[in-house]
Amino acid sequence: MCGIVGFVGKQACTSILVNALRKLEYRGYDSAGIAIFEGERIKTVKAQGKISEGLEAKLKTEPIFHATCGIGHTRWATHGEPSDVNSHPIGNGRVSIVHNGIIENYREIKAFLTSKGYGFESETDTETVAKLLDYYYEGDPMEAIEKALEDIQGAYALGIIFREHKNKIYAVRKDSPLIVGKGDGESYIASDVTAILEHTREYYCLERGEIAVLDERGIHFTDMHGEPIEKELQTATWDVESAQKGGYEHFMLKEIHEQPEAVKNTLSPRVKDGLPDFSECGLTAEKLREYKHIFIVGCGSAMHSGMVGKYLIEDLARTPVIVDIASEFRYRNPLVSSGDLVVIVSQSGETADTLEALKLSKAKGADTLAVVNVVGSSIAREADMVIYTNAGPEISVCSTKAYAVQVAFMYLLAFEVAYSRGKIDEEECKRLTAGLLAVPEKIQMCLDDMSGYQFVASKIFNADSLLYIGRGLDNALSMEGSLKLKEISYIHSEAYAAGELKHGTISLIEDGTPVIVAATQSALFEKTLSNVRSVKSRGAKVVMICRESEAIDANCADYKVGLPDAEDLFLPLISVVAMQLIAYYTAVQRGCDVDKPRNLAKSVTVE
Ligand code: F6R
Repeated sequence: MCGIVGFVGKQACTSILVNALRKLEYRGYDSAGIAIFEGERIKTVKAQGKISEGLEAKLKTEPIFHATCGIGHTRWATHGEPSDVNSHPIGNGRVSIVHNGIIENYREIKAFLTSKGYGFESETDTETVAKLLDYYYEGDPMEAIEKALEDIQGAYALGIIFREHKNKIYAVRKDSPLIVGKGDGESYIASDVTAILEHTREYYCLERGEIAVLDERGIHFTDMHGEPIEKELQTATWDVESAQKGGYEHFMLKEIHEQPEAVKNTLSPRVKDGLPDFSECGLTAEKLREYKHIFIVGCGSAMHSGMVGKYLIEDLARTPVIVDIASEFRYRNPLVSSGDLVVIVSQSGETADTLEALKLSKAKGADTLAVVNVVGSSIAREADMVIYTNAGPEISVCSTKAYAVQVAFMYLLAFEVAYSRGKIDEEECKRLTAGLLAVPEKIQMCLDDMSGYQFVASKIFNADSLLYIGRGLDNALSMEGSLKLKEISYIHSEAYAAGELKHGTISLIEDGTPVIVAATQSALFEKTLSNVRSVKSRGAKVVMICRESEAIDANCADYKVGLPDAEDLFLPLISVVAMQLIAYYTAVQRGCDVDKPRNLAKSVTVE
């Protein structure tokens, strides 16, 4: 995830900015840069790659004057591959900006500015904001910012400098976080307090609709119309070490909490006028109408997201979907041919089996769509079409937010396939899309109180083995829940279709065997309950994950994890949070190395 820093004071700022950027390295990034006031101009130095190998190496070769104000950025590519030109700060010599977030209507802004004679060098959405600020700038930065923000849709945190307003930083935000640090005769901006902790613990949280202006005299806050506002100073209590994880004990927990924002960032750029829109990658409604078969291929959690996709597409679009594990697909001479769509799912975009499955599909003449998190990765480069999931970097080996955004995309895909094939009308497609856009709020509700997950974990952490069961979409979800638990807690677990238990697996149940039941689908609820009764009567300790409003008989379930109310269709994307947190707290209670489970690597680039 990108990181912003800024400094203004009396000291030389270059090393302060670079050190602050280093503190944000934990967020993950692929390039870094700074822009500083140097004499009468803005000097920008930026480079792809690690700070030490790219930016710092470049700075050593550049004559740097004594500058006391500047902005800096670590970029995690979303729009445009990692490269020097796509790195931030971005500007035109008169205005320079650093940006976190995604500008949803950047294409419209770009078209407008192009018609006004502006040219664009980078592939970023950020450049449209820099040029828009320049377009509106007539001497008053506040006026330019106010006008530009009226035009911009999406999530952003921005640090802005204007050449004609030397040693001043302007900061604004909406949805992406930004703090303003107060030092002794110096001021800072940063994406989080980690970046500035070695200088000051005192900071303000910038809120939506507020502008901070920082200069040598101090910090001044106004609303969008320039009216001064008073803000409360906060004091950070974190030490530098814990702040690297944004205050969370593990990256996994931090990434679980990032899911509402990550899902928003995946969905919002792909919804236009209330309907799914994949025109960014050339996946048109015409193509989706014509494909003979749809395959979804990936490994581990990525493949599990495909299982959810299969249920959704088959149910809504009445179109068969084949989901496969990449390592199986590539060696079984799959029945893929021209006229088919193969959706290749991968967080890293580097998984060896998945990459080979992609190459095989292309060789057989199919259209390939990569659903990938890492921009410019091998799978993204190789595929015919790419959708970036915009989850930001996932550092914990165990996938959480990357899975959630893959699933979020599967919903949009299912709606678009169904709509393009006339299985749902425009009104229904809009209704479903609006429902999906409301899911991040429900995910947030599951994150507001950890006590239920901790309690369940305290009841199962001593188990040797357990089962996850569910029907329909809950069955697809259980696969992911089971994988999370075994991966990080080392407890053996298996996911099973609830109705299939009686054909063999139920013999594993003995007194005290934990069984985690996903029961979010109303039409299947009673059926699932009857499976629950049969495991309970054989001694199972049952944990039910279902709507909070569901009245569960104490003879049926031992513990309930309640979910917020939502349409059945959307509950799997919400209830996965409960599965992740049960796995997380179980692993913590067993003393496991949550972020780096034994024998596992984040990116599996070998067969
Ligand atoms: C599980 C997990 C793995 C990955 C799998 C595919 O938590 O992280 O199962 O999902 O290795 O990786 P990508 O998505 O990078 O292809």
